[in-house]
Amino acid sequence: MTLTNDLLLRAARGEKTERTPVWVMRQAGRILNEYNEVRKKLSGFIELVKMPELAAEVTIQPVDILGVDAAIIFSDILVIPEAMGLPYQMLEGRGPFFPETIKTEEDLNKLRTADDDSLGYVAEAIRLTKKELNDRVPLIGFTGAPWTLFCYMIEGKGSKTFSLARRMLYEKPAFSHTLLSKITDSIINYLKMQIAAGADILQIFDSWAGVLPPWQYDEFSLKYISRIIDSVSDIPTIIFAKGAYGSRKSIGNTNCDVVGLDWNMDIGESRSLVGEEKTLQGNMDPAALYAGFDIIREETRKMLDLFGSDRHIANLGHGVYPDTNADSVKCFIDEVKEYSAKMRQGNY
Ligand code: CP3
Repeated sequence: MTLTNDLLLRAARGEKTERTPVWVMRQAGRILNEYNEVRKKLSGFIELVKMPELAAEVTIQPVDILGVDAAIIFSDILVIPEAMGLPYQMLEGRGPFFPETIKTEEDLNKLRTADDDSLGYVAEAIRLTKKELNDRVPLIGFTGAPWTLFCYMIEGKGSKTFSLARRMLYEKPAFSHTLLSKITDSIINYLKMQIAAGADILQIFDSWAGVLPPWQYDEFSLKYISRIIDSVSDIPTIIFAKGAYGSRKSIGNTNCDVVGLDWNMDIGESRSLVGEEKTLQGNMDPAALYAGFDIIREETRKMLDLFGSDRHIANLGHGVYPDTNADSVKCFIDEVKEYSAKMRQGNY
């Protein structure tokens, strides 16, 4: 297999690139009218996730419309709890909701390990996307990190503090480890299935990393992420741990290839904590895309200068906000391409 545009994979491996590759977290979604058109025809988001032809279609939309250097498979991190036996709902304007949560040993024992049967629709979406992409750009597979999924499985919905999940770590550490191990086993099966179906690189989203202090992050999150990374070493991996300021050094010590930075993380400080051996990804403030095009271009150049030209994948510091103008996202992407190409030639 040779990709026409393999910039993202080369940057992830630390090879030289003609310019900085760029993609945007949550690039497939409500920022695109074309997505909303597809979504309107269906009763809900979960239905779309489970229809491989349509999931493939919306996965490819940002490649065609925005010109990103990678597609990310259209799905959700919550398909894992569902495959383990905890179904979820997506409430309009309120986000995810799980009618049942994990409270007792009995709840824990009832959980299944996610397998190819329960998540076959994602594999099918990946196969269809690969076929339709026709090797134009790489396809990113993904999962939620065990800790972030644990948060949803304990709390049943989003939270500012995830205090119930954190309480569990103190009150029932052994129970917590058993649940985290079960989630990890499911994730490993899931990612191996994604690789077999054609994913070129994997991102692990640890969206709620920031609620744990560093020692707990190492014990209850990074340990499991490391186990996952070591089980899928055949393709490059990205860890995006939002808010994990105190753990950047230990993230840099895992075998991942790329470390994602959120928009509050200082780029120079992150580089010295993570070390020179990893590629960094990120990290423009998604709110900067609400500004005028001149400001967007200026902020984009500022970010590129701070990362320097090597070992960087441009992205936002978190998912693009759904009410962002698609033309503003395009402005960010175009500026990354143009300015980083000039940086490489030394005439900027
Ligand atoms: O383009 C892409 O990035 C691929 C698709 C993708 C979705 N969710 C689609 C989606 C990815 C990678 C995710 C990951 C995800 N899902 C995360 C980790 C990333 C992050 O943002 O921190 C988390 C925490 C979730 C859980 C989740 N899913 C929430 C909290 C919500 C509701 C928030 C909202 O924006 O409404 C979702 C729903 C969701 N996932 C939507 C999309 C396009 C919007 C639902 C819709 O279209 O109706």
